[in-house]
Amino acid sequence: MSQLLITGGAGFIGSHTCVILLDAGHDLIVLDDFSNSSAEALVRVAELAGVELGSKRLSLQRADIRQTSALEQLFAAAQSRGCPIEAVVHFAGLKAVGESVQNPLHYWDVNVGGTVSLVKAMQEFGCRTLVFSSSATLYGYPDEVPIKEGAPIQPINPYGHTKAAVERLLNDLAASAPEQWRIACLRYFNPVGAHPSGRIGEDPLGRPNNLFPFVSQVAVGRRPEIEVFGGDWPTADGTCIRDYIHVMDLAEGHRAALSTLLQEPPQVLTLNLGSGHGASVLDVIQAFETACGRPIPHSIQQRRPGDAAITVADPAAAKERLGWSTRRNLHDICRDGWAWQSANPSGYGPGPASA
Ligand SMILES: NC(=O)c1ccc[n+]([C@@H]2O[C@H](COP(=O)([O-])OP(=O)(O)OC[C@H]3O[C@@H](n4cnc5c(N)ncnc54)[C@H](O)[C@@H]3O)[C@@H](O)[C@H]2O)c1
Repeated sequence: MSQLLITGGAGFIGSHTCVILLDAGHDLIVLDDFSNSSAEALVRVAELAGVELGSKRLSLQRADIRQTSALEQLFAAAQSRGCPIEAVVHFAGLKAVGESVQNPLHYWDVNVGGTVSLVKAMQEFGCRTLVFSSSATLYGYPDEVPIKEGAPIQPINPYGHTKAAVERLLNDLAASAPEQWRIACLRYFNPVGAHPSGRIGEDPLGRPNNLFPFVSQVAVGRRPEIEVFGGDWPTADGTCIRDYIHVMDLAEGHRAALSTLLQEPPQVLTLNLGSGHGASVLDVIQAFETACGRPIPHSIQQRRPGDAAITVADPAAAKERLGWSTRRNLHDICRDGWAWQSANPSGYGPGPASA
């Protein structure tokens, strides 16, 4: 099996994907600056996969993706050891919509500048297989639901603009050498849940931006109640509907994308990764109450600017191209999310991600 570079591999989605890729037999080099994660996540990834952290199976490089020289050194070192990096799975980036509105320059710098830095190093060392974490955010307010990949790209915040810009960049790059680049832009819907062991999960820095970690932090007593933004949306119960995807399904989607890229001729694959099922905010709260066996206090507030009523993926293309579809439902998501949150009420503990 091949050697892979996983940028942002200590983060929420990266850590779960590392477990799946290690199980598939790949050797991994994780590069992370730990700006939104803890090294403890990788200790637990190693434990779950039955490998040693720091060994050939799973090694760690603390660096910022914007430092092209650090990336070049890493590619050069792998080459000189006789096991060049065959492909990159690129999770490293910033993802908080509100923060991107406050500080767009930082988002463009890390998300777009960081990707430019990465692909420069890849190009220099002849590594031309890349799986990129894109986002359903780039559809903005969708014209039609379920959303197909051909839907208009119309981001409504700087975070979404950076994801659209990176997709553009990767398409331009592939068009310059179509016989060389193998690229997957995976547009995630709403990744949630945790590894079923409860050993790894989502550990957001400070106040969570998304519903699911908020619900689980209220359930565990870290926060008093959830504010539900809008009870008057045009949906059955008046709350927003999203497509929640179990992070283990998402991780398996990365394994499938990587193997399709490595087996097929060079191409750019642009695919939605979602379940195709919508759940309202109240559905999620209710399912989580069932999973944790306690009530979750919540109150309906005014709508929040920038939210769309319903976003649900059409996942048919991923099924057709990758032979992949989700296997876990909202019940599994809440059970596994609660296993993580209840065993780790303060996340990974001391460190930047436990504030
Ligand atoms: N979680 C979601 O809801 C969601 C949805 C769609 C897309 N995405 C994208 O998926 C990717 C992973 O998301 P996640 O939820 O795992 O986030 P995360 O914050 O948990 O993981 C990102 C990782 O990247 C690292 N990182 C950030 N900037 C870096 C830099 N300059 N150099 C090196 N490492 C850096 C962080 O320390 C962290 O470990 C991101 O690109 C995100 O935009 C996430």
